[in-house]
Amino acid sequence: MEYLYDKLIKYREEDVYPMHMPGHKRNLDLMDMVNPYAIDITEIDGFDNLHDAEDILLANMKEAAGIYHADHTHYLINGSTSGILVSIAACTKKGDTVLVARNCHKAVYHAIFLNELVPIYLYPEVDEEYGIHKEITPNQVKKELERNPEIKMVLITSPTYEGIVSDIREIAKVVHSYNIPLVVDEAHGAHLGFSKDFPENSVTCGADLVIHSVHKTLPAFTQTALLHSNGSLVDYDKVKMYLQIYQTSSPSYVLMTGISNCLRMVKEQGVRLFDEYHKNLVEFYEACNKLRNLEVYQPLKLKEDNLPFAFDPSKILIFTHHSSINGNELYDTLLKCYKIQCEMVSKNYVLAMTSIADTKEGFKRLIEALFDIDNRIARQKQQQLNSLFYVTNLRLVLTPYEAYNRKKEGLMLDASMGKIAGEYVYLYPPGIPLVVPGEEITIEVINKIKEYKQAGLHIKGMIDHSSETILVVGEE
Ligand SMILES: Cc1ncc(COP(=O)(O)O)c(C=O)c1O
Repeated sequence: MEYLYDKLIKYREEDVYPMHMPGHKRNLDLMDMVNPYAIDITEIDGFDNLHDAEDILLANMKEAAGIYHADHTHYLINGSTSGILVSIAACTKKGDTVLVARNCHKAVYHAIFLNELVPIYLYPEVDEEYGIHKEITPNQVKKELERNPEIKMVLITSPTYEGIVSDIREIAKVVHSYNIPLVVDEAHGAHLGFSKDFPENSVTCGADLVIHSVHKTLPAFTQTALLHSNGSLVDYDKVKMYLQIYQTSSPSYVLMTGISNCLRMVKEQGVRLFDEYHKNLVEFYEACNKLRNLEVYQPLKLKEDNLPFAFDPSKILIFTHHSSINGNELYDTLLKCYKIQCEMVSKNYVLAMTSIADTKEGFKRLIEALFDIDNRIARQKQQQLNSLFYVTNLRLVLTPYEAYNRKKEGLMLDASMGKIAGEYVYLYPPGIPLVVPGEEITIEVINKIKEYKQAGLHIKGMIDHSSETILVVGEE
C-alpha cells in the first residue's frame, strides 16, 4: 500500500518543474507559511464566519474587492466551480433561457442542469492557423440577444484555457442594453489587471459577476477562488444565499489564509513581481522566435497587431504542427527527458502555464529543453490541424435536465448517430464537453471519440470506461 503523502514527498524530491497550476509553483522561496496544522481552525471565537462575515473575514474580502475594483468580493474555497454554480443560480429562475459560450467548463453545464435552464450556445470561431478557439465577439452576442429576447443571462469564458481574452467591455455594453447581467468565467484570469503588460480583468470592464480561480494563475492553494459582483443587475442577496448552498459549511482557514496571503503579496510586492515575470516572459518569447521546427504562439507580437481580442501571455502554447512530432510526443519528452510537467496537451500543441511564482531557472529549463528538442526533430509540411477540443455546432434536442432524467440505453458508438446524447463526453483538462446530454450525436462526435481513444486519451463523462458504448436517450 502506497500512501498519498509518501508519494507526494517522493515526487517533490524528483525535482520536476511545474509548468501547470497551482500558480504558487511550489516555490518555497516565495511561499512562506508555518506548518498548516498549526493554523487549521474552525469558526472559533474571534475568527468570524465565512457564511455571515462581519469581522476579520469581511475585512479581508473587502480588501480583495478593493484590489479588483469590485463592489463585493467573496472568498471561495470550493474553486471557481462553486462560483459558477452560484452565479448562474443567482441570475436565473428555474427554466429560464441563458446564452452561454459552448466552450465553457463543465461547471457551467452542471449549473444549467441544476436549475433546469434552456441553453442557447455561442460558438467561438476557430483560428484556422493554430486550431484553437478564438474569442466570442460582441456582434455574436448582439445577434443572439436580438433573436432570443427571452434570454435572462449571458456567460462567457475569458480568457480561454489557451489565453484568448474576449472584448468584455464591448460585450458588457451589448448585454446591458438588454438589461440583463453578464457573467464572466475568468477562472484563468485572476492575475489580469495588475500590470499594464497583461490584459484588463473583467471586473473593471463592466461584467456583473466575475469568477477567478486564484489557485490557477496566482500563488495560492488549490481550490481557492473569488467571486466578484458589481452593479445592481444581480440580486446580491441571492448570490449570498447560493454561496451558502454551494460551499461547505466548514471553510478551511488554511485555504482562506492562502487567498489572503496571495492578495497581500500582490498588493505589497505585485509591481516588482509582475515586472520580473513580464521580463522573463519577454525573454522567453524572444528566444522562441529562433526555434526552427517547433513554434511558440507569440502573444506579444499579437498585442502590437491591435487585434479585436487580447491574449494572455502567461499561457505558453508550443505548437508542433510544422514538425516531425505531435503534441503528445513533445509533452512526453518534456516530462521524461527534461523533467518539465506541462498543464495540457492537444494533438498539435502543448500548453505550459506560468505565473509570478515561476523562477528564471524554470523559464531557462523550458527554453533549453525546447531548443534541444528542436535540434533533434525535423521540419515537416504542416500536419492536419484538428484540435481535440473543438466544439462543433450540435442540434440541441432536449435540455440537459430533460435528457439526464429520461430513460437511457447504451449503444455502440457507430449505432448512436442521430440519437440524443444521455451523458457528457469530455477530456480533462480542459473539461469542455464534446457533447452535452440533450444534443444530437453526429458523425463528427463519433469520430472524435474514436480519435480520443486512438490517441490513448482518458475520456471522462462516459459510464462505459472503454468508450465502446455511449448512453443515449431511449424511447419514452
Ligand atoms: C475555464 C474554467 N472555468 C472553471 C474551472 C473550474 O475551476 P476550479 O477548478 O477552480 O473549480 C476551470 C477548471 O479548470 C476552467 O478551466
